[in-house]
Amino acid sequence: MGKKTLNIYQGGVSIITGGASGIGLAFGKALASKGCHVILADLQIELAEKQAELITSSGGKATAVSLDVRDSKGFKKLIEETREAHGRIDTLFNNAGVAVGWEVKDDLLEDWNYIIDVNIRGVVNGTLAVYPIMIEQGFGHIVNIASGAGLVPATGAVSYGMTKHAVVGLSTSLRGQALEYGVRVSVVCPSFVDTPILKGGVYGRVDARVVKKLENAPKPSVTIGTSLLVRKVLPQIEKNRSIIVEPMNMKIMWWVYRLCPDFFLRLVTKGWFLIKKKLNLSVL
Ligand SMILES: NC(=O)c1ccc[n+]([C@@H]2O[C@H](COP(=O)([O-])OP(=O)(O)OC[C@H]3O[C@@H](n4cnc5c(N)ncnc54)[C@H](O)[C@@H]3O)[C@@H](O)[C@H]2O)c1
Repeated sequence: MGKKTLNIYQGGVSIITGGASGIGLAFGKALASKGCHVILADLQIELAEKQAELITSSGGKATAVSLDVRDSKGFKKLIEETREAHGRIDTLFNNAGVAVGWEVKDDLLEDWNYIIDVNIRGVVNGTLAVYPIMIEQGFGHIVNIASGAGLVPATGAVSYGMTKHAVVGLSTSLRGQALEYGVRVSVVCPSFVDTPILKGGVYGRVDARVVKKLENAPKPSVTIGTSLLVRKVLPQIEKNRSIIVEPMNMKIMWWVYRLCPDFFLRLVTKGWFLIKKKLNLSVL
């Protein structure tokens, strides 16, 4: 039998956390349509089951699994069971994430602990569970979904921005070590994508007064759909790009920030005050 190699699509096996909704689900559908068996791992198990059924009924291979990414033992169990059932794990998408807070002055320590647990520890749990298996296989690709807020300041989402910077740091730092073992690490940094997280998300803890205002507010004009994002990102994962930034507006923002950080900060600060004014939030 020939040596196994990484299959992102046909014949591959992919675990996607937060796979029941939004970006994770779009990755799941796209990978399954190209012959990959996708495991949609999510706290929203009923939704994950429904989505897995839809993928299966259109000819793809999908399984739904209940997972809380904060639970390191549960994550390890899922990884081990997947390896046992399928004989391989090609990709792990550490995608589950939440949004929390608004103005730091109103944040509680437990909200910060919560977002650290999901957005950072969740990624650490997944990485530590899958990495030894991928090393043993001699192949595998860990794809961490951070955010543009992991590359530039996120004035309206301070704790979120901090967690996403951590995910970028984990990914780019591990990438060099993992190379030796045939394991790839990429990080994806999108700007606004049309998913429930933009209005707080099911498990988010965004200030309730802000969520209420966001209900009727238009989405940011630069918002893109999940399938377009995935169409732009997947070829770059195939090419093993390290930091995948999409769409173009995010690339420009990142470039301006690196070139003139103070100028960029002045711009985002102005933007922050404008958003507060537009949503009439100054009076909170
Ligand atoms: N939508 C955007 O504008 C945007 C931009 C940049 C980055 N992101 C990131 O993309 C990722 C996916 O978010 P999305 O936009 O698709 O939002 P989403 O709310 O549609 O999806 C998030 C998913 O994560 C799941 N989840 C939350 N907490 C979990 C936990 N503890 N364990 C397991 N699953 C959990 C939710 O059930 C949900 O299915 C997140 O990491 C988010 O931060 C989103």
